[in-house]
Amino acid sequence: MRDAPQPTGAEGEFPAGVDVATTVARSRGVVREKVAAQNGVPTFFDNRVLLLAEIAHSALDGAPGSRRSEHVRAAVEELTDFLRRAEAPRFADPTERLGRSLREVHAAMAADLRTIHRSQGVVSTLTWAGLPLVKSVYDAAIIPMLISELRPASIVELGSGSGASAVWMADVAASAGLAPAILSVDRNPVAVRDARVTFRRGDLTEIETVLGREELSALEHPWLVVEDAHVNVRGVLAHFDAVVRPGDYLVIEDSIVKRADLLAFLESADGRYALDRRYTDAFGENVTSAVDSVLIRR
Ligand SMILES: C[S@@+](CC[C@H](N)C(=O)[O-])C[C@H]1O[C@@H](n2cnc3c(N)ncnc32)[C@H](O)[C@@H]1O
Repeated sequence: MRDAPQPTGAEGEFPAGVDVATTVARSRGVVREKVAAQNGVPTFFDNRVLLLAEIAHSALDGAPGSRRSEHVRAAVEELTDFLRRAEAPRFADPTERLGRSLREVHAAMAADLRTIHRSQGVVSTLTWAGLPLVKSVYDAAIIPMLISELRPASIVELGSGSGASAVWMADVAASAGLAPAILSVDRNPVAVRDARVTFRRGDLTEIETVLGREELSALEHPWLVVEDAHVNVRGVLAHFDAVVRPGDYLVIEDSIVKRADLLAFLESADGRYALDRRYTDAFGENVTSAVDSVLIRR
């Protein structure tokens, strides 16, 4: 990397304190390692980072005015943000992110609300086995990655909908060579039948009567628990807290409206859960319905 004079942070120049040469070198290094892990195939985003690095780098050599261009400034800012996230630890204290205001959450979210609102489909939902699957397109990618990495022995789904999501998780697990026990609960009956899934009718406002601790304790770990019924959230979390083991995952979907409940639960959980940023931020911060809420029991 060249030995270039560093920006001063004067008005219109690079942000104060940013060492552009180092930022460019580190960004290229992160992408190089990532692409190597992808069998040499860069993603759209990898190419974007390399282009931004090129723009920032060119300004180091350029005429004095080039350092003040908005183009360059935006590139340096985006690279700085990229590095901050890429180099942050995978697991974080969930209460820090959950403690933010909604305004802060949306400002940091890597997709705008129009994109998020369309991500479960516009004219129709996603479908699986001919049934409506009410997942965002992002969660439809995140859950399979999680199943493949976690290799759950048991999956508990709260909120079956049409039943498509439980059948889909059974198919995803099977494609990873797994045959987890799958239990899916809804207050409404589910028409679909699948030998790999136990569908159960029950009211989750009375979770103790629907999923007794003794029954849950008999399920093999690790567990993937997907909360997608949006009722009695604190009661449900407290119920599972008593039976989960280290390494189990709780994924709370559509959680933008559950933040107060989640925060209250986690504050009382005394650090027993970590936020797994690999999944919440797989497509940029919180581009998922599980906003700040893919949790691993430590
Ligand atoms: C968002 S849908 C589930 C979607 C499904 N998991 C999917 O991905 O396609 C929410 C489900 O929660 C169920 N539900 C709502 N309140 C409930 C309650 N008190 N007890 C049990 N299920 C409930 C609804 O009947 C509905 O099927």
